[in-house]
Amino acid sequence: MAKYIAEPFRIKAVETIKMTTRDEREKLIKEAKYNLFNLKGEDVYIDLLTDSGTGAMSVEQWAGVMKGDEAYAGASSYYKLRDAGIDVFGYDYIQPVHQGRAAEKVLFPLLLNEGKYAISNMFFDTTRAHVELAGARAIDCVVEEAKNPTIRSPFKGNMDVEKLEKLINEYGPEKIGVVVMTITNNSAGGQPVSMKNMREVSEVCKKYNIPLNIDAARYAENAYFVKKREEECKHMSIQEIVKQMFSYADTFTMSAKKDAIVNMGGLIGVKDADSPLILKIKANCISYEGFYTYGGLSGRDLEALAIGIYEGIDESYLAYRIGQSEYIADRLDEAGISYQAPVGGHGVFVDAQAMFPHIPYYEFPGQVLAVELYKEAGIRTCDIGSYMLGNDPDTKEQLKADFEFTRLAIPRRVYTQAHLDNVVDALIAIKERAHEIKRGYRITWEPPILRHFQAHLEPIE
Ligand code: F0G
Repeated sequence: MAKYIAEPFRIKAVETIKMTTRDEREKLIKEAKYNLFNLKGEDVYIDLLTDSGTGAMSVEQWAGVMKGDEAYAGASSYYKLRDAGIDVFGYDYIQPVHQGRAAEKVLFPLLLNEGKYAISNMFFDTTRAHVELAGARAIDCVVEEAKNPTIRSPFKGNMDVEKLEKLINEYGPEKIGVVVMTITNNSAGGQPVSMKNMREVSEVCKKYNIPLNIDAARYAENAYFVKKREEECKHMSIQEIVKQMFSYADTFTMSAKKDAIVNMGGLIGVKDADSPLILKIKANCISYEGFYTYGGLSGRDLEALAIGIYEGIDESYLAYRIGQSEYIADRLDEAGISYQAPVGGHGVFVDAQAMFPHIPYYEFPGQVLAVELYKEAGIRTCDIGSYMLGNDPDTKEQLKADFEFTRLAIPRRVYTQAHLDNVVDALIAIKERAHEIKRGYRITWEPPILRHFQAHLEPIE
């Protein structure tokens, strides 16, 4: 029997959600050109599109919103955030920005340009886009077991260190502008990176003098997995694990909309106060985001973020949080539905290819399941597969992803056990009629970059 870890909080404010009929949803998704990003939020019953910016803030954070200092320069909320960042991550320089991709936009052009490469355990789609926008090319280098959803190994988010070193030698160390460790590894299914792997990657980077950046959106969930699964860290606190993990890198970029539980915010961190990057980061930030003490955020956002950085690393919160994904995963095991196993931190990545083995990658099985979940029960999810991956930037041909997932991303502190049961029941109903769904989708219009947000699709008859 699947076990559910009870919430370590109670609910103080509620938000009514609309119920729709199947007929209404069939019409709505057709009007949305079968792209779930085109749906109105109010037409969704359970919104698992993303765990980004969709969490519920605590009473302390809301109180912080009222205390936010809106001074243009040097606001007290900035200093509170800076001190929280220095304390939790152990970095000398903390730069607020408005979200994760803003951090990438500010930092990546300082490390990359045409002819250069960036190597990662796996790039998230916006991270990959910012590597390419800087003129460079992005290479994924995740461990092989990540590519098989049924292999239950503890750190499927890891970098393949041997392959990393081979790639560095193949392209030449001077061509590698940055190595990026994404923790947790979102695209591989919210899979954790071990302390050992981070240390080994750091050693390789030092050996070849290549900067190491952490893409730190889910730093706390990663630390929780490390504590649970890695012998050397089992007696450490989450905060100690976070600090040690970050000590191996030179910089971090962070979407704070995930583990720091705010609706908007991001950070850049630089470990050493004397790094020449800091002045350049400030300059880019002033051009793109705003003065460096607010970086595109209101004082109230800085204040809520300073509090959220700590709430995210609370161990009883993390046990409940990871427990939600584990609960869904246990129920899927009982139902024989395959997913990236063991389940990751911020959600469940259902193996849509296993559910629709007859639908090829270029008809987007992950998108097929996402559309079916909406039609079935008003649940919004997204494809993490070939549809999201897009086309080769050089040949323009459709790329084949290593997996075809439909991601159920769980917002933080938002949905109850009954909501999660509703999601699993919908998946079971779809699995039972999966063989009746013969074909997938074709794209009728797409933009050149990050297409999945905006593309139009139609079912292939
Ligand atoms: N890096 C990772 C690993 C991410 O998951 C995201 C966003 C970003 C960077 C960019 O951050 O959205 O604040 O600009 N991931 C969201 C998601 C959108 O749904 O997984 P952002």
